[in-house]
Amino acid sequence: MTAELAIYPGSFDPPTLGHLDLIERGSRIFPRLLVAVLRNTEKQALFTVAERVEMLREATTHLAGVEVCEFEGLLVDFAQSRGARALLRGIRAISDYEYEFQMAWMNRRMAPDLETVFMMPGEAYAYLSSRLVKEVAAGGRPVTGMVSPAVERRLRQKLS
Ligand code: PNS
Repeated sequence: MTAELAIYPGSFDPPTLGHLDLIERGSRIFPRLLVAVLRNTEKQALFTVAERVEMLREATTHLAGVEVCEFEGLLVDFAQSRGARALLRGIRAISDYEYEFQMAWMNRRMAPDLETVFMMPGEAYAYLSSRLVKEVAAGGRPVTGMVSPAVERRLRQKLS
């Protein structure tokens, strides 16, 4: 296992500036950070996994230790297959805690050596979520300052 490798998993449908803020914060702590997009056949997504990986790669080219990939199956199995010691998750409001703690406890039960590390995004992003960004964009309102200009363009194309 490599102590310096952490995995930042998620749906990223689409990646928001809150996600990018967390990636930047995480990359200052972990020498290598693998952003892992879940390939989930059950969840109805707006962007394909390949599109999400591409958007994340475009947005993280300036971060040397950051890589982006996709994964399927259990996160703990994926993390162990990569030799990661830590999972990175963002916590915004109190409402995130229940879901995040459930996942963290379950993951710890399956993989006791894998630590979940929680970080807070900058307060400008505390209320942001991919779901709300999609709703606002679908309603025809700008999402400037919530996602990168490249993601905003892709959202407009998808929803037009
Ligand atoms: O961005 P999201 O949708 O909140 O991310 C959720 C994610 C991808 C971290 C979570 O659904 C996950 O880890 N899925 C993989 C399947 C798994 O390991 N399930 C058990 C979790 S306790």
